[in-house]
Amino acid sequence: MSKVLSISILGTGRALPDHVLTNADLENRLDTNDEWIRTRTGIQERRIVAAHESTLTLATDAAKDALDDAGLSASDLDLIICATISSEYPFPATACLVQEALGVTEIPAFDLSAACSGFVYGVIQAAHFVHHGTYRHVLVIGAEAMSRFTDYEDRGTCILFGDGAGAAIIGPAQRDGQGIHHTIMGADGSGARMIICPGGGAKEPASRRTVDERMHFLKMRGREVYRFAVTRMQQVIRDAMAAQGLGPEDVAMIVPHQSNLRIIESATEKLGLPPEKVWVNIDRFGNMSGASIPVALDEVMETGRIKPGDWILLAGFGAGLTWASALIRM
Ligand code: UT7
Repeated sequence: MSKVLSISILGTGRALPDHVLTNADLENRLDTNDEWIRTRTGIQERRIVAAHESTLTLATDAAKDALDDAGLSASDLDLIICATISSEYPFPATACLVQEALGVTEIPAFDLSAACSGFVYGVIQAAHFVHHGTYRHVLVIGAEAMSRFTDYEDRGTCILFGDGAGAAIIGPAQRDGQGIHHTIMGADGSGARMIICPGGGAKEPASRRTVDERMHFLKMRGREVYRFAVTRMQQVIRDAMAAQGLGPEDVAMIVPHQSNLRIIESATEKLGLPPEKVWVNIDRFGNMSGASIPVALDEVMETGRIKPGDWILLAGFGAGLTWASALIRM
């Protein structure tokens, strides 16, 4: 869709647990090795929540950081959207718990389940609300404690995931032309079971069997997801840029989902993008699902490289299967 949504990103923030889980740590726990992990995924280490941390604590810390960056206080917020697949509880929404933690009441708050695309889905929703004047300041968070749903006996998945949270405050545009100029949101439910946590929901409520069969952990058909991811990552970036007639030289930064360095590199190469214009943090944080893009966005903003009028592109894909992109003029 390419009708301009007039908004600005008023502030961004992030929160990462202190505890670092390295490839060497994983080598000591299961049959894997640093060389395999680095060459197949690009990951060197990830952050993991400690006992006193959770999706809620990360989400709240990232939200506070974004509010600080925007120079706003929690009472300025009109809506909270939390994108997560590792919510604090099956219900209520983590967004409502964040609202409480921020010390505000009444404003709407809800969670959004679109996995690694969740933050981009959330930003697009927020932009519609702000553009149409329904709300002025929307807090969008991507927060995940993936380690709580990761099976550390499954070497095909446990090497990939990490914990973290990122957040952005979406507010009214401050200049002509500022905003989201193109959006893509898509889903293919026929691939819904390719990445799934099969236990603990209405279909398979928690029982001794679901625990014994390790059904409360993420399961992934890695090779199939890889094929989907390579195709979609390239498609959402190419289509977004083509819709605005932008070439690699016109875009200041692509902020892709960080699921596998090979997926990012294949898009970079195929689309002729200069590598320095494609943000990578998977080496340091692994795949943080819905938190990967907002953490990367906050890092990009912190570099000071993004100037008014620059184009940045958020691009994600993930469980659902889902995909999304947002082409933003800063
Ligand atoms: O964010 C959500 C979206 N998720 C993704 O985009 C993830 C997409 N998938 C991937 O990134 C890759 O499929 C993985 C990184 C998960 C796996 O890489 P792969 O190159 O597809 O490996 P594979 O599953 O085809 O396995 C190749 C070999 C197998 O051994 P054999 O059968 O060839 O003897 C695996 O058993 O590598 C073996 N293997 C490992 N070896 C050492 C699988 N995991 C490991 C491991 N360490 N951790």
